Amino acid sequence: MRRMVRETRLTPDALIYPVFVQPGRGVRMPIASMPGCFRWSVDCLKDEISEVVALGVPAIMLFGIPERKDERGSGADDPDGIVQQAMRAVKQWFPELLVIGDVCLCEYTSHGHCGVLRGDDVDNDATLERLASTAVSQAQAGADVIAPSDMMDGRVRAIRWALDAAGHSEVPIMSYAAKYASAFYGPFREAAESTPRFGDRRSYQMDTANVREAMREMALDADEGADILMVKPALAYLDVLRSARARFDLPLAAYNVSGEYAMVKAASAMGWLDERRTVLEIATSICRAGADMILTYHAKDLAAWLKADVPASERT
Ligand code: PBG
Repeated sequence: MRRMVRETRLTPDALIYPVFVQPGRGVRMPIASMPGCFRWSVDCLKDEISEVVALGVPAIMLFGIPERKDERGSGADDPDGIVQQAMRAVKQWFPELLVIGDVCLCEYTSHGHCGVLRGDDVDNDATLERLASTAVSQAQAGADVIAPSDMMDGRVRAIRWALDAAGHSEVPIMSYAAKYASAFYGPFREAAESTPRFGDRRSYQMDTANVREAMREMALDADEGADILMVKPALAYLDVLRSARARFDLPLAAYNVSGEYAMVKAASAMGWLDERRTVLEIATSICRAGADMILTYHAKDLAAWLKADVPASERT
């Protein structure tokens, strides 16, 4: 009876697995604050991705850590950049896997901000051109979806125009539309070495306290041509997801971010939480709040647990 009356059904179809790539050979570097996650060199990536595919996870999101960082984030739109290399390899090995490219400058800039600077401020409009060029270079490398995470105003329109002009009108945009200035990105910034060298991201990421502003950000991105809207982080923002679900017809994504992952991993390692039940409960809650898809570092585990005929009563 409990199985029949279940209102929210989580399946691996909803999962997107974030993957970090870096230059070099033979690299499988553990990320200390994200147990179970690694930085991979492209030559080591095939086994990891084949596991993802075998588990039935339909999509990955690629993040790159370049060899060198500079003021303008030149590595981001380098046709032979690290993410572009990884995309070409993964699409060749696994043409059916959906490959999503995160588009942002913070992993590539020496100062760690998500855009180019003018003095000590991020120059919104000058950044748009860099983002558009990054999106095009990723599409050319085989990205199936472009996901801008920088939070500059007007980037969705700029990217849409650039993709269309370059002959990639079929490539959709998944916009990190409601992205908050959050403490939960800590482990990711360690993994991607993208902590800002000065200041913080509050001039472009949103205030935790605001939900009406999130609706406005999402409406603007939808208007500019976004095909999928994202709320990030997920767990502390389920109300934002719920409001977005009521308001927008577009598919919604939620990013269960690095800090949310690290909390569960740390408490589970201490024996304070049952990892499987906790992760399934969190993922189900994110779906229940309105997400169609979840970006999560737990994706491989989740897919395995969901496949392994776990009695429905145990799933939350
Ligand atoms: C880049 C970006 C960040 C994350 C995804 N893309 C970090 C940030 O904005 O500082 C965070 C993901 C995570 O914490 O798992 N802008």
